[in-house]
Amino acid sequence: MKFSDKVVYQIYPKSFYDSNGDGLGDIRGIIEKLDYIKSLGVDYIWTTPFYPSPLKDGGYDISDYTAIDPRFGTMEDFNELVKAAAEKGLKIMLDMVLCHTSYQHEWFQRALAGEENYQRYYILRDGRGQGEPPTNWQCAFGGSAWEYVPRLEKWYLHLHDVSQPDLNWTNPKVREELANVVKFWKEKGVAGFRFDVINLISKPEIFEDDTEGLGRKLFADGIHVHEYLSELVKNSGIDGMITVGEMASTDLKNCLLYTRPDSHELSMSFSFHHLKIDYKNGDKWSLMDADISALKKIFEEWQVGMTENNGWNAVFWCNHDQPRAVSRFGDDKKYWKESAKMLAAAIHLMRGTPYIYQGEEIGMTNAKFNSIEQYRDVESLNYYKILREGGKSETEALKIIGERSRDNGRTPMQWSAEKFADFSTVEPWISSPANYKTVNVAAEEKDSDSILNFYKMLVKFRKENKIVQDGDIKFFERENNDVIAYRRTLGDEKLIVICNYRGENVNLTEGNLSEYVADGYKKIFGNYEGLADNLRPFEVVVFHK
Ligand code: NOJ
Repeated sequence: MKFSDKVVYQIYPKSFYDSNGDGLGDIRGIIEKLDYIKSLGVDYIWTTPFYPSPLKDGGYDISDYTAIDPRFGTMEDFNELVKAAAEKGLKIMLDMVLCHTSYQHEWFQRALAGEENYQRYYILRDGRGQGEPPTNWQCAFGGSAWEYVPRLEKWYLHLHDVSQPDLNWTNPKVREELANVVKFWKEKGVAGFRFDVINLISKPEIFEDDTEGLGRKLFADGIHVHEYLSELVKNSGIDGMITVGEMASTDLKNCLLYTRPDSHELSMSFSFHHLKIDYKNGDKWSLMDADISALKKIFEEWQVGMTENNGWNAVFWCNHDQPRAVSRFGDDKKYWKESAKMLAAAIHLMRGTPYIYQGEEIGMTNAKFNSIEQYRDVESLNYYKILREGGKSETEALKIIGERSRDNGRTPMQWSAEKFADFSTVEPWISSPANYKTVNVAAEEKDSDSILNFYKMLVKFRKENKIVQDGDIKFFERENNDVIAYRRTLGDEKLIVICNYRGENVNLTEGNLSEYVADGYKKIFGNYEGLADNLRPFEVVVFHK
């Protein structure tokens, strides 16, 4: 099945639209906004989890895989969502969090209560001595990946929060249960799935210290991952449906295996290397300016590498775990509109299936919080503490959290300039940046030159142009540190995309813009009027021949 002409819209339900005035978004809120989603021209809606959960990690800590958390609605609401979406030609993709459960899941509770059968569902190990966990692995949110259970005198593995014990995929019964979960939702009319950190499901056979890092390399893309994934796909009957795997610390070789049609695993993968180009020495909590030449190399490696070997990328800048791209790689003040449009075109004209994250299409910015009390995310709160304990002042710690917090992507969708950005009638669970007064759907629907209308144009352009869907891709201006440029080719047709990632005028090094025109290329769109001699701040130029 081909997904090159499709576009996915991602919803974080908690922050999308609150239909019942409790300050929390919900399923009926999505139903009420289906016309808006339809107006974007997208095909699929991927919604992040709304299953029963203590919400320690935004719902990625599931306590019941086959029910709906009452805070988000009911199963009837969900059924109605699938039906109402289908009536508008939209399909639903659900998030499957199968690497770990919540500690409140019945399986874990029964394991803790001493049922050996359920203890085999998790990864329980002896420590290495008094108070010493089995290995030095660190969890994703800071601190050891092991937690001691005095009653069992064993440690359990949690690669994420302590409330998220990892499942034991070596146990066939666990794999069977999880395949049944996927099947359950498939039978309810869901069109596809996003699999959370699915490349972390296969742990090493021998548990030993990571002498170089925090452990990730030992359990990412583990030895049995491809076998488990193809079994899951087969047993749940989802081969050929739209599926995307979230791949943490992965590599090209494995993503090819995950996504090549002959592997019968997934239809595409998310990788994250391009979103680490502003991590100093690979550390998310050390700030540095984005390294555009590194970004270019990563795009080239993944775009060309996946194309040459029949793999398929999901292409994206934003999601509920990432700061807003316009604040991060653009300029959310002086060149807000220009940079948001440039970043959009850069991704949407690539090879792959584009994902738009709620609010990205209107240029929503980072949260711009100024006190730690405004943050909600477990990772941000943990790291604030770690940074302070490590000697950072409050101002320094808040600056780092301000740029890196996942809450930047979780502030309420900005529907209008009304109170609470029209997301809710009461104080929402997390506050909005003050710019909702101008950055909002209502304002941008009225403005033909808005970021919103630019996104709609890009989605339509992909659907109408085979070259965007299926064309080959080659990068040029490879030595230019300010510009990322690529050429798409399909038969005799050519499409050139030139992006300036700097807030100033920059020059091309392999021939200036007028030379493309002299060569028969026509500018078909961009984010500035006409053509200048050089590229203007955050300019994108799209040429066609
Ligand atoms: C990735 C999800 O996107 C993120 O929000 C979550 O915290 C982790 N996986 C753990 O489930």
